[in-house]
Amino acid sequence: MPSTRSIEVLATATDLFHAAAEEFIGAARSAIGAHGRFTVALSGGSTPKALYSLLAANYFNFAWNRVFLFFGDERHVPPTDPESNYRMVNESLLTKISIPSENVFRVPAENPDAVAAAADYEAQLRRFFALKPADFPRFDCILLGIGPDGHTASLFPESPALDEQSRLVVANWVAKFNTHRITFTFPVLNHAAAVIFLASGADKADMLRHVLEDKITPPLPSQRVQPSDGRLLWMLDEAAAAKLKR
Ligand code: 6PG
Repeated sequence: MPSTRSIEVLATATDLFHAAAEEFIGAARSAIGAHGRFTVALSGGSTPKALYSLLAANYFNFAWNRVFLFFGDERHVPPTDPESNYRMVNESLLTKISIPSENVFRVPAENPDAVAAAADYEAQLRRFFALKPADFPRFDCILLGIGPDGHTASLFPESPALDEQSRLVVANWVAKFNTHRITFTFPVLNHAAAVIFLASGADKADMLRHVLEDKITPPLPSQRVQPSDGRLLWMLDEAAAAKLKR
């Protein structure tokens, strides 16, 4: 069943992150109730840090032992690097909740061979979800952000990974940063039961209007996230949503 896209606009950034935390915990409770666990891929960058801090502060006693955390993408740096998404999540969330270390699946991005790091992470996904060779994992939830060029995860416009239809995780060469990024591919994103985009701030307003209201050929990476049988939710604050027709 095609995904249903909904857009939720909250008055302020604070309201946005509180609503996102409730959405996250609601999805977790529903998944744990339905099949005993919650599998979620976290997004990186700066926007979600406030969400992760709120989850640590307000849901410290949640059943984190039933939560299995993955990363939708990672920079090609060690986990101690200021650029590392793992470092950001570790500092804002993991060090503040009681989640078993075996429930956290970190991308081995310290490996100087980005292709090997991506293959290793893909093998971790295949093992965890007990996938057959042609299968894709169905995450209960994947969190995403949107970049100024319409990228999401580390799927950047005109980058090689946009065409990947069989691998789960690839090392994507991002020319403008002159580096590899390790990222989920579109098939993984589009097999999720729910995808939640989080965007905050006026600097996202132009791109959000473009992505959510314009028909672009070829579509921007963020426009290609269309779960084939799942929920697609955009959670924005007023500043980010300011240029949307409503
Ligand atoms: C990353 C993210 C990336 C991010 C967007 C938005 O590794 O940086 O996965 O896709 O979500 O670039 O970043 P901000 O939240 O910092 O605006």
